[in-house]
Order: sequence, then C-alpha cells, then structure tokens
Amino acid sequence: MTITTAPASAAVDAAALRPYEAHRDGESPNRNLTPLSTGLNAEGRLVVGGCVLSDLARRYGTPLYVLDEATLRGTAQAYRKALASHYPGSALALYASKANSSLAITAVVASEGLGLDAVSAGELLTAVQGGMPPERIVFHGNNKSLEELRLAVDLGVTVVADNWLDLEQLATLSLAQPVRLMLRFTPGIECHTHEYIRTGHLDSKFGFDPDQLEAVLQHLKGCAWAQVSGLHAHIGSQIFELQPHRDLAGVMADALKLARDLGHPVSDLNVGGGLGIRYVESDDPPSIDAWVRTVAEAVARACEERGLELPRLLCEPGRSLVATAGVTLYSVGSRKEIPGLRTYLSVDGGMSDNPRPITYQSLYTAVLADRPEADPTDTVTLAGKHCESGDVLLKDLQLPPASHGDVLAVFATGAYNASMASNYNRIPRPAAVLVGDGLVDLVQRREQPEELLRYDVLPERLRPVT
Ligand code: LLP
Repeated sequence: MTITTAPASAAVDAAALRPYEAHRDGESPNRNLTPLSTGLNAEGRLVVGGCVLSDLARRYGTPLYVLDEATLRGTAQAYRKALASHYPGSALALYASKANSSLAITAVVASEGLGLDAVSAGELLTAVQGGMPPERIVFHGNNKSLEELRLAVDLGVTVVADNWLDLEQLATLSLAQPVRLMLRFTPGIECHTHEYIRTGHLDSKFGFDPDQLEAVLQHLKGCAWAQVSGLHAHIGSQIFELQPHRDLAGVMADALKLARDLGHPVSDLNVGGGLGIRYVESDDPPSIDAWVRTVAEAVARACEERGLELPRLLCEPGRSLVATAGVTLYSVGSRKEIPGLRTYLSVDGGMSDNPRPITYQSLYTAVLADRPEADPTDTVTLAGKHCESGDVLLKDLQLPPASHGDVLAVFATGAYNASMASNYNRIPRPAAVLVGDGLVDLVQRREQPEELLRYDVLPERLRPVT
C-alpha cells in the first residue's frame, strides 16, 4: 500500500486556534472528550491535528474515521512515563490491538516503545508488518487454531496459554526452541461494567480456572518445549473503579509465588487492560497515571509481602490508548419529524461503523463540525442508515438546526469502532486518516461496494442464462 502524506487543504497553525473543549487532563487523554489537538479556527470550525474536520470530510468522504496522532502518542507516552515513575522494576505497556488494529497505529505505538497484544492471525500479521518487534508481542485467544499457534511460534512471539487445548496443540509442533508461554487464569474478581465486557469473574470463558493453575504448572514442569515466562489475568473493560485492580495484584502475586515455588522462573506479571475513558460529560475515569500508580504500587506491595523478587510488570491497555484519538465524521441526510414524539436525523453510517450503541447501549458525544458552539436548540435522535430500528447512534442529542450535508463529528470513537465494523447491509467500511501538524495520511482506504462481492461465488448452474 502506498501512503501519501498530504497537507490539509487549509492547514491550521496550532497557535491560531481557540480552545474548544476544556481539557481536564492534558497528560491523560482518556479523561477528555475530544482529541488533545482539538481547537476552533477563526470561523469557529472544529480543527483536529491542524486539519479542519469538514475539509477532511469533503476530501475523503464520509463516514470517515479521523485519528489524531498527538493524542495517540500522548497516551502511549503517559503509560510509559507512569510505569517508569511508579513501578520500581522494569515494565512494559502492550497495546491491546483489538481496540483498533492497523499498520499505521501499530507503527506509531511501536515507535513509542510499547509492545502489543494480538488475538488472531490477522492482528499478528498487522503487528509484525506494522513494525512491532516479535519479542514485544503476546498472542492471546480462548480458541486458537493450530495454524494460528504455528504462526505465533514461527514469528517468535510469546503465546498466552488459555486452556489445555493450547498446551496439547503446542506440544505437537516441532519446535526449534522452547516457546515463551504466559498462563492466563481467571482471577475471580468482579467489577462494574457491562456484562459482555467483564472477564475476571469465575464464570468466564477466558483462561484456566484458578483451581487448575497448580495442575497446569505441574504438568508444564515435564514439558521441555515450554518456558513459562509469565502469568496473565484481565478483569474487564471500561472500568472506572481502582479497587478491583488492587485486588488483582494480590491474586496474581499468590499465583506468582505458586509458580516460582513449583520451580518455574516466572519473570512477567501481566495485569491486562481495562481503564475506562470519558464518552460523555458525566463519565469520570481515573487518569492513566492514577491507574498505573494503583496497579504498580499494589503489585510491588503484594510481592514484597510474599517475599517475591519483583516481576516485570506488563499491562494491556486498549481503549484508553486509542479511543480519545478518534473522531468519526458523518454527513447529515434525511430528517423525520414525528410531532410531539421525536425527530430522527439520519447519517450516512451507523451500526456497521460503530456497533457499540446497539451492542452495549454505549453513549457518545457529538457536535456539528462547523458549528460546535452554536445554540443547541433542537433535540434529535441520531439514526444510522441500516435496516434496523435499533440502529441509533445517539438518543436525545442537543444540536443546532442541522440540515442535509452538514458534517457531524462523534467523539471518542478510536477504540472498538473500526475494529468491530461490519458490512451489514453490504455497506462498505469507512476510510481512516491519521492527522497531525496540519498533515493528513490516508491509513485505511474506503471499501468500494464492488469489493464486497470479492468472496462471493456464483455456482455455474445458478448463473443467469443470457
Ligand atoms: N487484554 C485482554 C486480554 C483483553 O481481553 C482486553 C479487552 C484488553 C486487554 C484491553 O482492554 P481495554 O484496555 O480496551 O479495556 N468491544 C468492547 C470491549 C471488549 C474488550 C475485550 N478485551 C467494547 O466496545 O466496549
């Protein structure tokens, strides 16, 4: 793929911008609603990364995923800095690439010195081709295929063993050297988040049951092909509480003691991801620094209490690394007013580019890209274009009067939007651009309707007779 960096049609100098959203925390983008580089130009139009958003919409079409490089680098640096200042041992943040997997994001994250967590052959290939060194990659999955395991081993990444089948399958591969293994177990910790994105409670499909951990470690004593380098647990996602992360440290330190007592020289503790972000004004997540500090201090204390030499601390942030960097642009289309009931305003995307509202009833914040400060005199329900009544992106959105062709910006869409996009109704996936300092790169090309037929096969006997 050729990537061409182009100046935005009218690049805006950061010094000429008026602030837009009051940034609550310049070092922790997950506490802000908008990307760190957001501002207003002289005409009051929204600018991100030095590019006027509505100009990007005109040039690249809509829906369009816009990613702000400064925010992405800012979150990566915030994790590195916090780990270095709060953890006395060595530490590494791994980007959970399920949040948004692309070559460009991988390249940015790799250049900031982070590692990466992948869960499929596709994410693994993206990571490696995006320039992530294999020694900084871990490979997850609760049902890995033999082919995926073979790929992971050939690439030389660390494999997170989730279940007995992983161990059985790995044992059948002829290996030149022992596989670096991390063992995932269910820590039995509850947290308050949507039930679909909770993983730490005992009734979870992920990881070994904690009662099995000893048997697994005993079994691996006899496996010359395995080198148990770490232990892993993840409690869930979009979490605002800190206590579950403190509790996790104790559970993991117990597991570390068990593993070392059984003779496995385990060096890494991976506490997963989970830090939440602000999607709407009322959300109030901890900062990256507060989260890392809580985790780091709890792990260091738990190890000290058990007389354990400090492990390397790994964590796997996904959402909090990329969400706030992302803004999705839509064009406003049809309007339906139901007197006394509701006004529907439809946009040219919906549940195929952002399935989170229909899946988790997630809330978002949106404004008109060229009039974000105009009086919000209308209350509208922002509907997608899919043939599904539930395809609503935002309910009861306060907007200034909006008409056909206006560009709408939805904030905090950098995580679990592009990566969860589908082709429902055979709608092509949007393009994505990376913006920074008035420059714009196309990093994911827009799908074309004809391309959606690529994998269809029309049997000879069904072909229309001409
Ligand atoms: N590590 C593991 C093993 C995970 O399963 C996950 C997320 C993460 C790290 C990253 O968690 P984060 O920092 O992003 O919270 N599609 C859902 C989120 C699913 C999260 C799945 N696992 C959503 O849109 O809210």
